[in-house]
Amino acid sequence: MYNYSAPDNLLKDRVILVTGAGDGIGKAAAKSYAQHGATIILLGKTIEKLELVYDEIEKNNGPQPAIYPMNLEGATGKDFEDMQVMLDKEFGRLDGILHNAALLGSLMPIAQYDMAHWGKVMQVNLNAPYMITRMCLSLLEKSDNASVIFTTDDVGIKGKAYWGAYGISKAAGDNMMQILADEMEVNTPIRFNSINPGKVATTMHAKAYPGIDPNTLPKAADIMNAYLYLMGTESKDINGQIINAQA
Ligand SMILES: NC(=O)c1ccc[n+]([C@@H]2O[C@H](COP(=O)([O-])OP(=O)(O)OC[C@H]3O[C@@H](n4cnc5c(N)ncnc54)[C@H](OP(=O)(O)O)[C@@H]3O)[C@@H](O)[C@H]2O)c1
Repeated sequence: MYNYSAPDNLLKDRVILVTGAGDGIGKAAAKSYAQHGATIILLGKTIEKLELVYDEIEKNNGPQPAIYPMNLEGATGKDFEDMQVMLDKEFGRLDGILHNAALLGSLMPIAQYDMAHWGKVMQVNLNAPYMITRMCLSLLEKSDNASVIFTTDDVGIKGKAYWGAYGISKAAGDNMMQILADEMEVNTPIRFNSINPGKVATTMHAKAYPGIDPNTLPKAADIMNAYLYLMGTESKDINGQIINAQA
């Protein structure tokens, strides 16, 4: 999969929602999906960043994307309902979701973790993917082959000291992905998997590992093969799996 070479038209006419599309891996994925033919709904917190991604997609002659500004931290059930209504009205279906937005939170012992901060990390990393997925199931069911991708991390796969709410949110996200994969395997066109990006030079990585030179790490654009593979129909029989984006 690391060497997967996606055909240019892999995602032609597909409609894909990418969360955290304004920066880092989400930005690279939004651009890469658009480059392969998809219409992207760019969901994120900072409008200026989303507008830059919008402009880059247009400049590269990708299908016209849509911007959906949303701060997942404060979003309520009504906000996700409104999003579903808009998506239904504008697009009528969804062929994919990349749950990518995340908060790193604090790296500290659980004994000292601030409870309010804990709630924010869980809201962005776990509750938001749950609510988005739940609200969008009816739209995903209208696709002939829909792919929902969660984003995990090594520290979600194996618990590690000081990773607190972030690590737990990732482990729970993978569990949610597996439950959905199991529940929807029969009689729906939707599959659910997680991607573990591995270490990538982004703002989040720099915050977590300030001592590591980002030039020694792959860039987000370098790990897109797995993201393309899992979103395209060539992976239609893969369901309930955790896939590494790097060897
Ligand atoms: N980089 C790595 O080495 C690495 C390793 C393992 C897993 N991951 C995972 O990969 C994914 C992408 O990470 P990244 O490294 O690209 O991080 P990043 O550069 O920090 O980007 C995170 C994105 O999430 C958005 N976001 C954060 N809080 C949000 C909120 N409240 N509402 C809406 N959007 C919000 C950010 O928007 P703003 O920019 O507007 O704040 C940004 O676009 C995450 O799920 C992360 O856990 C990354």
